[in-house]
Amino acid sequence: MTISNLLDQIISSAMQKAGAPENAPAVIKPSGRPEFGDYQANGIMGAAKQLKMNPRELATKVVDALEIDEMAEKIEIAGPGFINIHLKNAWLAKQIISNLRKDNCGVEKTAEPETIVVDYSGPNLAKEMHVGHLRSTIIGDATARILDFQGHKVIRQNHVGDWGTQFGMLIAHMVSQNNDDLTLKLSDLETFYREAKIRFDEDADFAETARNYVVKLQTGDAECLALWQQFINTSLQHCEEVYETLNVLLTRDDVKPESSYNDDLPNVISDLDKAGLLTEDAGAQCVFLDEFKGKDDKLLPAIVQKSDGGYLYATTDLAALRYRAKELDASRIIYFVDARQNLHLNQVFTISKKAGFVPESTALEHMPFGTMMDKSGKPFKTRAGGTTKLVELLHEAQQRAYELVSEKNPELDNDERQNIGKVIGISAVKYADLSKNRTSDYIFNWDNMLSFEGNTAPYMLYAYARIQSIFRKAGDVDTNATLNIEEPTEHQLALKLLQFADIIDTVAADGTPNSLCNYLYELAGNFMSFYEACPILKGDDATKNSRLQLAQMTANTLQQGLNLLGIDTLERM
Ligand code: ARG
Repeated sequence: MTISNLLDQIISSAMQKAGAPENAPAVIKPSGRPEFGDYQANGIMGAAKQLKMNPRELATKVVDALEIDEMAEKIEIAGPGFINIHLKNAWLAKQIISNLRKDNCGVEKTAEPETIVVDYSGPNLAKEMHVGHLRSTIIGDATARILDFQGHKVIRQNHVGDWGTQFGMLIAHMVSQNNDDLTLKLSDLETFYREAKIRFDEDADFAETARNYVVKLQTGDAECLALWQQFINTSLQHCEEVYETLNVLLTRDDVKPESSYNDDLPNVISDLDKAGLLTEDAGAQCVFLDEFKGKDDKLLPAIVQKSDGGYLYATTDLAALRYRAKELDASRIIYFVDARQNLHLNQVFTISKKAGFVPESTALEHMPFGTMMDKSGKPFKTRAGGTTKLVELLHEAQQRAYELVSEKNPELDNDERQNIGKVIGISAVKYADLSKNRTSDYIFNWDNMLSFEGNTAPYMLYAYARIQSIFRKAGDVDTNATLNIEEPTEHQLALKLLQFADIIDTVAADGTPNSLCNYLYELAGNFMSFYEACPILKGDDATKNSRLQLAQMTANTLQQGLNLLGIDTLERM
């Protein structure tokens, strides 16, 4: 159990004994300032208000009823009725040692494992992955890892865009290549797409051929499907290369493409009709709901079938929602998708429940994110103004980090510098993104993300490597030594370490890896303060071994935390 949950139980039960209304929450928060203790209970004022009682008076009764001697050194009533809790050093030490002996840094598996679908990455396969796909891919991956870590059954769904009229154009362009050229040309999908698009826009015959291929594809023409499959395979290989470079766990098994729902789309329409949700508007089939109104108070349609009979993005998403709820049996479905698709997702969520595709109890959550901007505050583009390929951005990151490492550590051999450069470069890009508030736009800045100061990947990796170097110098370590917490910086570090489980809960609930980044950054800071105030290797054996236990728990937690963000640590750098 996390400390805040434990305190919540203890304080809540004391509140009941003191006569607080049933289920009045204790509202436990880390106090944030050592002079206010370690934790604060903020719920007394609310309870007192309900009882029409003086809050300090209720607080006194609660404190009298508290059974917390084992944990707490001191309990104070402060301000209008806060209860400040100062934890005992011995109690903290006992928890740390117990966590040190357990797996997963002492984070317990959830008592209520759920089946959770996480929809992330979802690139459009007609083109190569570009920077616009970075955020969904890495934020989704980190959150999926964390839900996994908690013991949930996580089903990753990569809802790739592999269907639509662009594929007619691409197939037409494939057919007009000779065989040898084709493989080579598909190695640069971006250029291939651009060439096809130019021909489509400028050459009427080509456009006609392309349209015929769309029809052939839709009617299941075998030859046409084989070409399409070849294109899709190549494009997925490109994605897999990116995933591997990014240390993202998505595999081919997680790919559940848009096209896999094709056969179900007519059923979606007829079932929406049966549910009385369809309205025809200018020949198209739409769903209008009171929940979705435009500025002029007019209802906004969700179009599910065009007048020519074609289906849309929303139709596929409705089929996917039904599949996830009914076939995958998910009780929670989370979407890491650009904030600009919020209306679309809210529409399909609401429709799927009204149509009975998804049970009322299933949680459907859009976890939106903002846009990555360049230095001038515009959406990130290449110098030529095109969208930046993700592979190129990642190569540049590795190259820049390699140069940085070579400058700092010229004595390391080249292979090692390459490897360190790879880890630092990729984690710098990931961490810079993951550490930002998910919903805001952010500015992509090489210098900031590669800096060894501040809340950056190099700083975090360095904090971990530094502890490893302490262990290399320490020689034999007694891992059964007693942990004595005495100094204030030891107390703060231990407290921070024990808050890891709370942060995991937060990220799992809110899909906000930035809270984990902030936590790890503060943890590294707590360690640095401890290390400055409490020499580890200079003291007597008992002190040394005690402090090494704190160092060990810090290293474990940093490594586990970074690992949950999809970031590998380095033993030295
Ligand atoms: N392919 C979509 C895009 O690039 C993202 C897919 C998100 N997932 C979903 N189920 N709609 O915008």
